[in-house]
Amino acid sequence: MFFSSTRTSIVRRLAVPFTALSHGRASLIHALLVGFVLIAINAAAPLAGAQKMELSIDASKAGAKIDRNLFGQFAEHLGHGIYEGIWVGPDSPIPNTRGIRNDVVAALKAIRVPNVRWPGGCFADEYHWRNGIGSARAVTLNPNWGGVMEPNTFGTHEFMDFLDQIGSEAYLSVNVGSGTPREASEWLEYLTTAQPTTLAKERATNGHPAPYKVAFLGIGNESWDCGGNMTPDYYLSQLKIYSRFVRNFNPAQQDKQQMLRIAVGPGGGEPRWTGWTEAIMKAYQHHSWSWDINGLSMHSYTVVAWPPAFKSVGFGETEYSQILKSTLDMEDLISKHSAVMDKYDPDKNVALVVDEWGSWYAPLPGSNPGFLVQQNSLRDAVLAALNLNIFVRHADRVRMANIAQMINVLQAMIITDKEKMVLTPTYYVYKMYLPFQDATSVPVTFDAGTYTHDKITLPRVDAIAAKDKAGKLWLELTNVDPNEPVEIQINLAGSGAKSAAGETLTASKVDSVNTFEAPHTVVPKPISAKVQDAKLLLKLEPKSVTVVLLEQ
Ligand code: AHR
Repeated sequence: MFFSSTRTSIVRRLAVPFTALSHGRASLIHALLVGFVLIAINAAAPLAGAQKMELSIDASKAGAKIDRNLFGQFAEHLGHGIYEGIWVGPDSPIPNTRGIRNDVVAALKAIRVPNVRWPGGCFADEYHWRNGIGSARAVTLNPNWGGVMEPNTFGTHEFMDFLDQIGSEAYLSVNVGSGTPREASEWLEYLTTAQPTTLAKERATNGHPAPYKVAFLGIGNESWDCGGNMTPDYYLSQLKIYSRFVRNFNPAQQDKQQMLRIAVGPGGGEPRWTGWTEAIMKAYQHHSWSWDINGLSMHSYTVVAWPPAFKSVGFGETEYSQILKSTLDMEDLISKHSAVMDKYDPDKNVALVVDEWGSWYAPLPGSNPGFLVQQNSLRDAVLAALNLNIFVRHADRVRMANIAQMINVLQAMIITDKEKMVLTPTYYVYKMYLPFQDATSVPVTFDAGTYTHDKITLPRVDAIAAKDKAGKLWLELTNVDPNEPVEIQINLAGSGAKSAAGETLTASKVDSVNTFEAPHTVVPKPISAKVQDAKLLLKLEPKSVTVVLLEQ
C-alpha cells in the first residue's frame, strides 16, 4: 500500500522507547517573594482539596525573545489539508476569494499565523512546481498519502495568494529527493526576481508581475527517510549545492531581509540523530562563503509507538497521562540537539527549527488511513501548551516551529467538512498565546508538584511568563492534573501588577472535543480576577490552560 511503505521506515526509526520524563522542573524551588497580590478567580472561595503551590516571576529580568515564528503552521498536500481545507475553487458554493475559503482565512487571520510551511512533508520531495502554475495543470499522483490524484490546482500562485489573505510568510520546502538544483533555483527565480527574465515574464503572465517574498527555504524534508534515505554526508553535499544555487533575487530580501535557509536535521534522540546533527553542524562551523544555513530542522511527533495506535477521542485518564508523558520528551530532545549545536555554533546563529511536531493518533475509523484524520481534544490543547512552553524555555535556540498540520490533518487548528468548519481546542491555545508572539521571556520559578496516574508521574503545573512589546506582563499556566484544581500564589518581583484578567480553556472530560454540532464545548472562558493585599492567587481548573495579563 502506498501509505504503509513510508510509515514502515518511520516505525523503525521511532520504535525505541521514549526516555524517562525529566523531573528537573518539579524540583525548582520558589524564590523572590516580592509584592504579593491576591486574585480570586471567579470570586471563588479557596477550594477544599485544591492543591496549593507558589510561583515567582522576576519581572526585572529579561530572557530570550520568543520569536513569533514559533507559532508557525505546516500545510502539506495530504488528505484534506489543502483541497477542501483551504482550496475549494472559485466556482464553489462555499464562500471563497479566488478559490480560497473565506471562513478558514478569517479563522487563521485571527491567530496571526507567522509562516506556513508548504508543500510538504514527504510530498515536497516529489513536488514539481511547474505542474502547479499556468492555465493547464498536470494531474499527477500523491504516492505518499493514499495514492490519490493530485490536481495541482493549488500551486505557487494560490499558495502565495493564501498567505497574502491570512497575512503570513512563505516557508517553501524545495524538492531535493527527486528534483534537481536547477528545478529549485528556477522556482526561486520565478518567484522572486524583479528583472524581466523569461521566468519573471511567465510569472507576470500568470497574474503576478511583482516579485514574491520567500522568507524561509527548507532544503529537503526528512532526507534520511522519505526524502531519499540519504546518509549525512550525501545530504551535506546536496545541501551545499542547493544553498549555493537556490537564490532569492527579491531586491527587498537582500542583506538582513535575506531568505533564511533551513537544513534537514534530526528526527529523534538516538545516536543516529545526534550523529546527523553533529555532521551538519560540524560542516557549518567551517563553512565557506559559498554556502550557509540559518536553521536546522527537527521533527518530533507525540505518538508513543509506531504505528500510531492511540485514539484521538473516546479515551480516558490512562491514555491522557501516557500521551502527555510522551510529549514531554520534547524537552530532552531539544536539550540534546541544542548541546550538539552549541559545540559548533556557540553564538546560536543557527536556529533549531521544530518544523513538524504535534500529536499523531490512529486514523479515525472509516477515514482513509493515508489522510491522517484525527480528532482534536482537550488533551491536545494541554499538549500544545506544554510544547509551546518548552520552545519558549529554549527560545534562544528554538526560533521557529510548525505544528503538524494546519487543517484536517493530524493536530489541526481547523476541521472542515464541505461548507462546515470547526475550530479545535488546539486552535484556541494558539489564540490565547498571541501575546507571546515576539514577546520577551521573563523568568518564573516554581515547584511544579506532581500528578500520578497508573504509575505515570507528570509535573502537575507548567508556566511561562513574558513581556510583550508594550511592556505588558503575561503569564501562562497549565494544570495537567485532570482531577484536582490548583491554587497558585504568584509572587511578583517589582512588576507593579495590580490586577489580572485573562482566559482559561478547559472542559468536562480529557477527551472533550468541538464538533460541527457542538462547536463551543472546548472554548476559552474569561476569568475575572481581584487583587488584594498585593498577593495574586489563581485557581487553575483541572486539565486547563490559562493565560492572564498582569495589569499595572
Ligand atoms: O506530517 C506528516 C508527515 O510526517 C510528513 O509528510 C513527513 O515529513 C513526516 O514523516
